[in-house]
Amino acid sequence: MHYAKITGWGKCVPPAVLSNEDLATFMDTSDEWITSRTGIRERRICHCNFSDMAVVSARHALAAADLDPAELDLILLGSLTNDSYCPNTASLVADEIGAVNAAAIDVNSACTGFLYGLHIGTNLIRTGAHKKVLVIGGEFISHYMNWARRDVAVLFGDACGAVVIEQSDEECGLLAAKIGCEADAKYAIQITNLGSAYSRLSEEFLYVGWNFEGQEVFKRAVKAMSQACMDVLEQTGLTVDDVSLVVPHQANKRILDALAKRVGIPEEKVFVNVHKYGNTSAGTIPVALAESLEEGRVKPGDYLLTASFGAGLTWGAGLIKWGERVTPLQLSDASLPACDKTALEILAPHIKRYAEHSASADSQ
Ligand code: UT7
Repeated sequence: MHYAKITGWGKCVPPAVLSNEDLATFMDTSDEWITSRTGIRERRICHCNFSDMAVVSARHALAAADLDPAELDLILLGSLTNDSYCPNTASLVADEIGAVNAAAIDVNSACTGFLYGLHIGTNLIRTGAHKKVLVIGGEFISHYMNWARRDVAVLFGDACGAVVIEQSDEECGLLAAKIGCEADAKYAIQITNLGSAYSRLSEEFLYVGWNFEGQEVFKRAVKAMSQACMDVLEQTGLTVDDVSLVVPHQANKRILDALAKRVGIPEEKVFVNVHKYGNTSAGTIPVALAESLEEGRVKPGDYLLTASFGAGLTWGAGLIKWGERVTPLQLSDASLPACDKTALEILAPHIKRYAEHSASADSQ
């Protein structure tokens, strides 16, 4: 049996910053409410396409691994906010980076898209079916946001990250994972009016709506992620004391605190960047992983614990053993096209559209 070593990592966060104060200029919210309930202070808003962020993060990950894209044999891309349903976004990325020998699959399990992808890619490598896999996770969630919904709009942001995993005989990479889905509660997070279940003849079609049972999701997230963490530790015979760093999905600082408490891990061992980016869904873990490495929080041979939870309601956890190398082999200068607008300027037409739609719905 082989292992699937993580040899490259990269991220792409769009430059336009939307602060809590910016949100309070057009919706009934406040920095105090958002910060105290979620820990989020600001988030990023994408000014281009989702695939542009995926390509930039892929190029950084490939440079870190010093890998020719033609050597990739598979791209797994976790996202629910793809550029289009057809062709899939993994194909767009494959073409753009020159991954001419790679199969290309989109994985839509919402926030767990990266972890699901890492689990699938790792096991395809471990069985020998594939050798070099690019796993991407990210979201252009602002595109799917209903900007009249303060209970949801303040929580999310746009970003993307990627890792390269390669076949290795060294015992490292994702050593254990447990993934699952609480499908009975699938409508606790739901994006409506988009997809083939909705009539194209309805006037509501494409006015994205959200069902979001925040408190229910909060409770389930803490329970499922902590149980999955304990399960992967048990699978590997390790204890929480062996774990150097937890790199979890970033949805809410209060969820991270509750997770740390339940699993019995001190808060200082939990990597947190939710204050900077909000919940970027499938992007949170690969971005957090890339930043953990940039900040020198990962040391050779460290055991990292990761966990995620999202729409579906999908959940998962994984135990990663890091290899010897914690610095990139090469650096890439890939970046998004320049942005000449503020986040509020990018969003202005969408905020107006949803405000008008919400006002007309209220008057009926
Ligand atoms: O990635 C996985 C998916 N997402 C999550 O994991 C999110 C999980 N859930 C949460 O993080 C939290 O439940 C929220 C942050 C979404 C909400 O926090 P909460 O402490 O559960 O607040 P709440 O839903 O109980 O709302 C309390 C009040 C309500 O007002 P009333 O009814 O008490 O008068 C809301 O209307 O806060 C109000 N509210 C807001 N006020 C100001 C809701 N959103 C806002 C807002 N600004 N943005």
